[in-house]
Amino acid sequence: MSAFTPEDFGFAFLEDGATVQDVIEQRISELSKTDAREAFYVADLGQVVRRYLRWVRFMPRVTPFYAVKCNDSRPLVLALAALGTGFDCASEYEVELVKSLGVDSGRIIYANTCKQPSHLKHAAAQGIQMMTFDDEGELLKIANCYKDAKLVLRIETDDSDSMFPLSNKFGATVEMGKFLLKRAKELALDVIGVSFHVGSACKNPKAYTKAIADARILFDKGAELGCNMTLLDIGGGFPGYDIPDLFVFKEFAAEINPTLDKYFPASSGVRIISEPGRYFPSTVYTLAVNIIGKKVAAISEKEKQDSDGEDVHKNRMMYYVNDGIHGSFKFVLFPNALVLPNPCQKRQLNERTYSSTIFGQTCDGHDLIMEDFQLPELREGEWLLFHNMGAYTITTSTTFNGFQKPDIHYVMSRSMWQHIEDISAAKGLYAPEEEASEEPEICSFLKPGPARKLYEQYAKQAVPRIIEAMELQRKREMQDRV
Ligand SMILES: Cc1ncc(COP(=O)(O)O)c(C=O)c1O
Repeated sequence: MSAFTPEDFGFAFLEDGATVQDVIEQRISELSKTDAREAFYVADLGQVVRRYLRWVRFMPRVTPFYAVKCNDSRPLVLALAALGTGFDCASEYEVELVKSLGVDSGRIIYANTCKQPSHLKHAAAQGIQMMTFDDEGELLKIANCYKDAKLVLRIETDDSDSMFPLSNKFGATVEMGKFLLKRAKELALDVIGVSFHVGSACKNPKAYTKAIADARILFDKGAELGCNMTLLDIGGGFPGYDIPDLFVFKEFAAEINPTLDKYFPASSGVRIISEPGRYFPSTVYTLAVNIIGKKVAAISEKEKQDSDGEDVHKNRMMYYVNDGIHGSFKFVLFPNALVLPNPCQKRQLNERTYSSTIFGQTCDGHDLIMEDFQLPELREGEWLLFHNMGAYTITTSTTFNGFQKPDIHYVMSRSMWQHIEDISAAKGLYAPEEEASEEPEICSFLKPGPARKLYEQYAKQAVPRIIEAMELQRKREMQDRV
């Protein structure tokens, strides 16, 4: 019997084959009877189970320590706790949250290289021993506050192929790492391993190869200095969902597994963990927003001329919806972010489209969700869905202008709940074949049919833009390095 009950999570079962889409439609029909058509999320916790099974199947040597910063919603974190993952916490609050769910301190890594001393003391009081560092100042701080900590040296990586790079701020070079290992020894601190992060939403699995090889160099140096090097932490960066030609989880596993076997074979006894964030919650959450305003703007003569005689329609559509960049869409401030709207109303495949801009609801002129996207004409009061919205949305949103965060409705099928019960009772990594073989892709949550075809068309518009933005970012980074 599981120690967890559905009541602990507060989700509703998806009964009689009902789908997330059915739940969304029902909620919309309820809200449509009122004036209060607030944005809302539907979160399918069964997706967390599927993601977990997939991880265990494709990277069985690597234990995930979920990065709570990505989405700290209690039901989600509880689902992962029940599945037996570890947790990457970055602050006192995150430690408190995870501990409040009954998670043992040994399943937590304090993976923030720059810790506030009071948070460090709190971690010490909670017995959270594993923690990262990447400079001498942090070593001195830890030597002062927490002599018994088990330290993990974070090294820098080539993150130029990631949507959200991190090495500008975190990670020591290999040379600096060697110095830090010596310094830790002088301070009588216990270094147990090496960690890295290749940048969030990485599109190049080879970034891990180089980082793992660098970690090996520092493992050897640590061992030479008498450190008991037993932990490799390969960080986050794994895709939240597969986008062919951009990132496919299986391809990451295919690159990482043999690299680990080469540099850290099972016979080495080194424990391997990771800190996936977006990998787990992205596909769990669908956001429904309401169109609260619409403007039709004529395109300028200049734009008509620039269109080179193409069939450009005369109008440009501007929509205003009840969420935005100060809420769930903060991540669009990064030029590489993928946002993909899915109009709720049924559409014809060959319907005429318009250049459309979607604004958020605040009084900020920068509150712009997406620009110049070809969409059919939408009307005020209509609903738009944004799928794959579980990563860095709920944790980054604010209530700027007094707009409250959307409600979240949690659901799960009975078969997925059964997996949670079985896995938490087995207390081990376990993946039934039939579930793990599922291929979650950007559009696969929609049943084959016209709606999916349309969504695929939108994806075809959006994905090349990201690839282009990432190429630009890479070029800029290369120039900066010269
Ligand atoms: C230290 C650390 N670990 C893990 C993560 C999670 O990364 P991702 O969501 O790319 O898996 C982050 C994200 O910023 C991070 O800073």
